[in-house]
Amino acid sequence: MKSKHILNKMTPYQPGKQIEEVKREYGLDRIVKLASNENPFGYSGKVADYLSSHKPALNIYPDGYTTELRRALANKLGVSENQLIFGNGTDEIVQMIGRAYLYPGANTVMAMPTFPQYKHNALVEGAEVKEVPTINGYHDLDGMLAAIDDKTNVIWLCSPNNPTGCLIPRDDLYRFIEKCPSDVLIVLDEAYFEYADKKLQPEILSYLEQYKNLVVLRTFSKAYGLAGLRIGYGITNPELIPGLDVVRGPFNTSSFAQQAALVALEDDEFIEDTVSRNNAIKKSFGQFLDSIGWHYFDSQTNFMLVSTPISGDRVFQYLQENGFIVRPGEGLGVSKTIRVTIGNETDMQDLQEVLYQLHTKINEGSLT
Ligand SMILES: Cc1ncc(COP(=O)(O)O)c(C=O)c1O
Repeated sequence: MKSKHILNKMTPYQPGKQIEEVKREYGLDRIVKLASNENPFGYSGKVADYLSSHKPALNIYPDGYTTELRRALANKLGVSENQLIFGNGTDEIVQMIGRAYLYPGANTVMAMPTFPQYKHNALVEGAEVKEVPTINGYHDLDGMLAAIDDKTNVIWLCSPNNPTGCLIPRDDLYRFIEKCPSDVLIVLDEAYFEYADKKLQPEILSYLEQYKNLVVLRTFSKAYGLAGLRIGYGITNPELIPGLDVVRGPFNTSSFAQQAALVALEDDEFIEDTVSRNNAIKKSFGQFLDSIGWHYFDSQTNFMLVSTPISGDRVFQYLQENGFIVRPGEGLGVSKTIRVTIGNETDMQDLQEVLYQLHTKINEGSLT
């Protein structure tokens, strides 16, 4: 068969083990998954009520224009309806951008480490990938500007960055946007927007008018807790939308996802509660890590990248045997780290106990 040659050199995304599988393997009753930056507090009760009392007509295709959600979101964000594009998760918008802007002979610039789907999709499209190492978890914006050449079509900024959690400082971001050539598409992925400190965040939507080469990505998967429904969105200038619409599947977001997101948007209290609980738990987890002398990166998200005295893979293994699934940093491109999603109060307390045992074993030399 004659598929794209690059596919023979690439591997599919490896989802973590399913909870039931880990339980069976280690004979555990309880597993806490802290690996995918999901919301440990669930989702808005208003969404739960809505979904239990409204049944979308499943025999009918969903609204391919996402009309109602588009109207509500445009209102909430203070942008025009024709500035929005919806995806089956932000993942799909990343894929659409790859399809629309990347091809053999073009290149794309991104941080290292960052969200892996930027690279994955760029490679599938046959584009060259230029990775610029982060500095203490922060994007090296000067390095990224220097990497741009006349073949660069897209530059990816992930802020806060996954997996480091670091937010690009507002003024640095503004300067970057001003200096970036106007024919290079800047994708600012704000999947963790709701978690980041409002005082530190850029007023990015007001830049869309002036900078026509900017796309901002956000999602309902993280703070809104709707990862299972797969819905995210992009905000950009209206001229870019038709090109992205060409590569979008006609009915790419489900009726359930559209309706749930619409209801979720009305529940600001749920988001405030999620963020304030997350921040309190994250702070106390940071204090615990300080107490055992483990370094962690500045996080403006619902996860933390933690440096480990032994390999991240080994720490991952120990935690898994003890009922916690985290992400080993080796797979994310940062050795001797683990990425831990901030869980609920009880789960994080229990995690700390297991980490303390691990720390003691490492200090005694019984675990290397
Ligand atoms: C930075 C970043 N962007 C995008 C996504 C994808 O989100 P979605 O669930 O909307 O596809 C994630 C998910 O982990 C992420 O961390």
